Amino acid sequence: MTDALLQVDDLRVTFAVGGREVRAVDGISFTVSPGATLAIIGESGSGKTVSCRAIMGLLPTGTAIGGSARLRGTELLGLSDAELRRYRGSDLAMVFQDPARSLNPTMRVGLQITEAITTHRATRGGRQSKREAQQQAIELLRLVRIPAAERRFHEYPHQLSGGMRQRVMIAMALACRPKLLIADEATTALDVTTQAQIMELLLELQEELGMALIMISHDLGLAASYADEVIVMYAGKIVEQAPAAGLFGAGGAVRMRYTRALLDAIPHLERPAHTLLPVVTGRPPDPTALPPGCSFAPRCQYAEDDCRAKVPALAEHVPGHRWACWHPCENGAAPHD
Ligand SMILES: Nc1ncnc2c1ncn2[C@@H]1O[C@H](COP(=O)(O)OP(=O)(O)O)[C@@H](O)[C@H]1O
Ligand SMILES: [Mg+2]
Repeated sequence: MTDALLQVDDLRVTFAVGGREVRAVDGISFTVSPGATLAIIGESGSGKTVSCRAIMGLLPTGTAIGGSARLRGTELLGLSDAELRRYRGSDLAMVFQDPARSLNPTMRVGLQITEAITTHRATRGGRQSKREAQQQAIELLRLVRIPAAERRFHEYPHQLSGGMRQRVMIAMALACRPKLLIADEATTALDVTTQAQIMELLLELQEELGMALIMISHDLGLAASYADEVIVMYAGKIVEQAPAAGLFGAGGAVRMRYTRALLDAIPHLERPAHTLLPVVTGRPPDPTALPPGCSFAPRCQYAEDDCRAKVPALAEHVPGHRWACWHPCENGAAPHD
């Protein structure tokens, strides 16, 4: 696809832990179009954060990374820190789960945003007066709908609520007017009402600023209600990918057994208001000792001998809909009740 904003091909990330290999990300490929919203969902440990950190160049030095991640055709993997900083400062930004840990507790929030703005300007080779940068910081606080922005500018993180701190983090991420914002469990630490407000804010900003959004979540309901497209990850691999409406909407047709199990554990998917990813019986496999066949087979009630012997390939069985399963759900299976 030539109009892709981000094109990820066969991304692999391997850590060496105590002499053993952890294949945290095992050959994932996906594309994000300009302005699109992609949700990446999966249980804890499935490789969501590591994938995005690899793309952002935020993994520890020495981490083994393979494959390709191109932003408007430019390869990001293997860029030097200085080069990456340029992209991180202009095209790519990431918001993390825990704003309390990501903000500097000893610095007024306005100054933290001002710093993000001036750093971004400097990497672009531009200059700007401190006053201008401060004015822009206040505008960013307004952009993320923080009331009394001039007053909040002078406050410290601890004076703000969790939701307000997350808005500040988003403001900092937006300082560079990114083309792609990655929100990694950005609302997980917040209460349900605040979560919804922040999600609405992200979607509004996405439209206002024309950016693409990758929303990482273990919250299937969140993905169902906000994303255009959904990727389901399991043990470092993509196991299913489809337009959100194709999976969850009326006549939605989930095929992979793991996705199905996740959906079946939600009582009312028609109203998927922020339902935490339900627990599927059993636990994800030990990443240092993956089973030989399908990683989900040990937890799958439909697993047969072939599932335990051979890894099912992720293939586009229907245009726009990929899944990896030897014995998928029948198409048109009874919609979830
Ligand atoms: N720095 C690291 N060193 C070793 N293993 C790591 C490191 N970071 C993550 N992992 C492992 O990689 C796997 C994927 O982690 P992660 O992407 O954080 O999962 P998720 O975000 O889906 O919860 C996990 O098994 C995790 O323990
Ligand atoms: Mg994570």
